[in-house]
Amino acid sequence: MCGIVGILGKTAVASQVVDALKRLEYRGYDSAGVATLECGRLERRRAEGKLRNLEEKLSRAPLSGAIGIGHTRWATHGRPNETNAHPHATDHLAVVHNGIIENFRDLKEGLEAEGVRFDTETDTEVVAQLVTREMRAGKAPEEAVAAVLPRLKGAFALGFLFDGRDDLLIGARHGAPLAIGYGDGEMFLGSDALALAPFTDEVTYLEDGDWVVLSRGGATIYDVGNAPVSRARQKIQPGAYMVDKGNHRHFMAKEIHEQPEVVGRTIAHYVDLATGTVRLPLDLPFDFKALKRLVISACGTAYYAGLVAQYWFERLARLPVEIDVASEFRYREMPLEPGELALFISQSGETADTLASLRYARAEGQHIVSVVNVPTSTIARESAVVAPTLAGPEIGVASTKAFTCQLAVLLSLAVAAGRARGTLSAEDEQRLVKALVSVPSLMSEALKHEHDIELLSRDLAKATDVLYLGRGTSYPLALEGALKLKEISYIHAEGYAAGELKHGPIALIDETMPVIVLAPHDAIFEKTVSNMQEVAARGGRIILVGDERAAREASVETWTTLTMPAMDPIVAPIVYAVPVQLLAYHTAVFMGKDVDQPRNLAKSVTVE
Ligand code: AGP
Repeated sequence: MCGIVGILGKTAVASQVVDALKRLEYRGYDSAGVATLECGRLERRRAEGKLRNLEEKLSRAPLSGAIGIGHTRWATHGRPNETNAHPHATDHLAVVHNGIIENFRDLKEGLEAEGVRFDTETDTEVVAQLVTREMRAGKAPEEAVAAVLPRLKGAFALGFLFDGRDDLLIGARHGAPLAIGYGDGEMFLGSDALALAPFTDEVTYLEDGDWVVLSRGGATIYDVGNAPVSRARQKIQPGAYMVDKGNHRHFMAKEIHEQPEVVGRTIAHYVDLATGTVRLPLDLPFDFKALKRLVISACGTAYYAGLVAQYWFERLARLPVEIDVASEFRYREMPLEPGELALFISQSGETADTLASLRYARAEGQHIVSVVNVPTSTIARESAVVAPTLAGPEIGVASTKAFTCQLAVLLSLAVAAGRARGTLSAEDEQRLVKALVSVPSLMSEALKHEHDIELLSRDLAKATDVLYLGRGTSYPLALEGALKLKEISYIHAEGYAAGELKHGPIALIDETMPVIVLAPHDAIFEKTVSNMQEVAARGGRIILVGDERAAREASVETWTTLTMPAMDPIVAPIVYAVPVQLLAYHTAVFMGKDVDQPRNLAKSVTVE
């Protein structure tokens, strides 16, 4: 993902900005740039490739301004070249951006209709032009930014520098992290505390929707409603920078909240946001058209991601899927026709059962593709093709952001397969990619339920058994929800296909049994309503996770409802993972469990 830095300093800041950007290199990037004010005028230096290329430019043409912003870019919209490198600028301002502005094409068309000319393919330049437009209409920088932010959809963080204003930086956070650093007569802005480590050990993490006006005298933070708000200033312990929890109590909480950003980054790696089409960054040694069957194998949460993908590949690409947990697959001796495709999913890329299954499939002549979060892992190294999830390091033992990033990759692959096999039209693809691109902001919306979920978890913590129900792609999510709850709270929980209830599990239902029903309003919603009525008739306590229409049409007495935003049902399993994760997390926290390192569990099961 991209990295943002801003410095309001006492002397030339360009080299400090580059030093801070170096501390963000772990996030991955393919171009970089700096903007400062030279005698009050905006000046930029940008370069394709690594930071050393930018440093060479700066050595040839130094910048001496004492205020500046910098950026490392992971290309999402537009090629990774100097033209598309940040900061993007107009004659009024320069801006750096991390994340995705989902509605940039509509906004860009509106500006072009007013005669605005664009120099780049990026969504970021649209933000620069929108704020400039407001300033040309007479607004001060602060008012101009405040006027534009509500028009932007997506998960993003922004940093602004203004021509002629050498004591003003503005930052904004909406789904992607942004921190403020406090110095002595200096102020700093950065994507995380790591970037600011050389300058300060006192930071404030902005909350979603916040924006901030920085001067050398300090920071004024505004909330999404533009009301001044105060946020905690915290000391960062030396050495905690590498993987700090940010302003979260646990890594699991941080990783749940990182999802809009890292899922957005993963999506941007697999789709061309400018054309709304899938663009796999993979060199596939097979033709989806020629495949007769797809085999998928994984463990735990990764296996549930594979179960969701089974629906997608079969429905979108009409490709039959055979899936099994790796611990069974490796010994099944499944007959496999050479030249077919085998897909392995793993966060760590080191899970022994999954690796053994991969080796069996490879020995049987399968094309091996792996979806992994660690590109240097053993599973990655033994695969013909690696489809990376760009979740960043996942520290919490309970997998969260890796799961939703896996789903983003798998849906992209399924759409690509559908297009290649002629089972999806170009219009289908546009619709599906539009749905995928909407996921980061939908996840940000789902995260807003955290307080309600925290209150609900206090009751859930009293349960000894919990049932999760779902149909279609909500069924694997029910399995995942049950796994999340039991592996960190130690409450027994089971996921079931909602239609299976009457074949046995309904005997469990009574007023002591919470039943969590995952039910977006989709084509089979009515069937799930019947199952909920069966549960309610026996006194079961239903927690409905669904959209407003589902809540309205459920026509059944529920304990409570977690109302999700309306969305294309195809992406429901990705977005509905958020409430499921938060419910498990807050239940376990309330019970005083070791959330990040639950008993008996390891982050990577490298033994049989
Ligand atoms: C998920 O929360 C668990 N930690 C566990 O099921 C995990 O998904 C499984 O061990 C697979 O790990 P992997 O994705 O690293 O292969």
